[in-house]
Amino acid sequence: MSEAATVPQSDTPKEEKGDGEPPEISTAWWTREDLCYRTGRLHLGRSDLETVAEKVGTPAYVIRAPRVLENAQRLTKALDAVGVRHRLYYAIKANRTPQLLSYLAAQRAIGADICSPAELLHALACGFEEEHISFTATSLAPSDLETISRFDRLNINLDSLSALQSFGERCPGRDIGIRINPDRGIGYGGNDMLQYSGVEATKFGIYIDRLPEAIDIARKHDLRITRVHFHAGSGYLDRELSQLSEVLAASREFLSRLSDVTEVNIGGGLGVPHKSDDKPLDLERWASTIADAFAGTGLTVAVEPGDYLVKDAGVLLTRVTYAERRREVEFLGLDAGFNLAMEPAFYGLPCEPVPVTQRNAPMVRYTVVGNVNEALDKWAENHAMPAPEPGDVVALINAGGYAAAMRSDHCMRGTAQEVLLLD
Ligand SMILES: Cc1ncc(COP(=O)(O)O)c(C=O)c1O
Repeated sequence: MSEAATVPQSDTPKEEKGDGEPPEISTAWWTREDLCYRTGRLHLGRSDLETVAEKVGTPAYVIRAPRVLENAQRLTKALDAVGVRHRLYYAIKANRTPQLLSYLAAQRAIGADICSPAELLHALACGFEEEHISFTATSLAPSDLETISRFDRLNINLDSLSALQSFGERCPGRDIGIRINPDRGIGYGGNDMLQYSGVEATKFGIYIDRLPEAIDIARKHDLRITRVHFHAGSGYLDRELSQLSEVLAASREFLSRLSDVTEVNIGGGLGVPHKSDDKPLDLERWASTIADAFAGTGLTVAVEPGDYLVKDAGVLLTRVTYAERRREVEFLGLDAGFNLAMEPAFYGLPCEPVPVTQRNAPMVRYTVVGNVNEALDKWAENHAMPAPEPGDVVALINAGGYAAAMRSDHCMRGTAQEVLLLD
């Protein structure tokens, strides 16, 4: 569904100030040209989110497709600027809404990164072409291999010696990629749970000590290793770029032992700000880090971001169910629980709650909670907002990635509308 309400820009009303040092909502850290208040109402692109909520109900995931494309174009531009030959795949696990995928496939600017046979069939159905799809899965079952082996133009990266062996038996003579484990991780704010390789042994990829065995298996089945792939973790920002350098340097050790490689896929993991003190990733520095690592190798660099493309393009619209003090804490209830956007509860990656229509009300510090019977069902604590009324619409920002895609029906609270904005 597309929303195209246009509301003229004007000054927003001033809130009364209560206790504490409330942030000025209309100039909050997360506002930007296409996500801001106009006449006191929050707009995403040209759409008035209060109107969207009235039309479709809450909870509702709303994502703005052009923002996703702009995010992708920013990456392409940064890599172009440093002269890196590159290829971009969108990791559809972050948000697989079919209308969004069809929109992206129709642009023909980026491919799709997928991690299961079902994602493969979904990406194809949404219009991505087989040769523009990169497949990197884990713990492949014989039935998974049976499905993927039917697609001989797919870019397949095998992540273990066993997958290499099984694939080689089925499809000898193919060009393949291997997923390596660089033994170094990276993630938002150093969060261990977001690291896919690092201090502890992880299930992702082949470690350097077993590379000779991987090469032997490939040789035995006449598989040519033309691609090296890794994904070291998620959510990294500038403060983690030195770790990215280390990850890339570690991959060079693998590359030096593989003579047929033409492409290095550095995975996704690029993060977006989640809190007021997070700065957006400096793409010039990011691209230079990549250029420095692979200068003179002649390799194409593939990147497969999920979050960076979709996270800040989407919000989850909810309504206030109640406000009530318990002991010294002011609770604010929403009609959406953590099951609709699990990253805040699982990984400590907040989706900040913001009012959709501004109120002249005193600022109150709330613990914002959802409607699922779990103690971890909290959206925010000590969070300053102008006191809303029950029924007010609250947007949870940064809900474009790993929200709808990871939702569960726990407590049978999994129902939510999905809206794609086209402008
Ligand atoms: C192999 C692989 N590539 C890409 C991604 C996308 O990561 P992100 O959304 O952090 O960019 C993931 C995420 O889990 C992944 O496992």
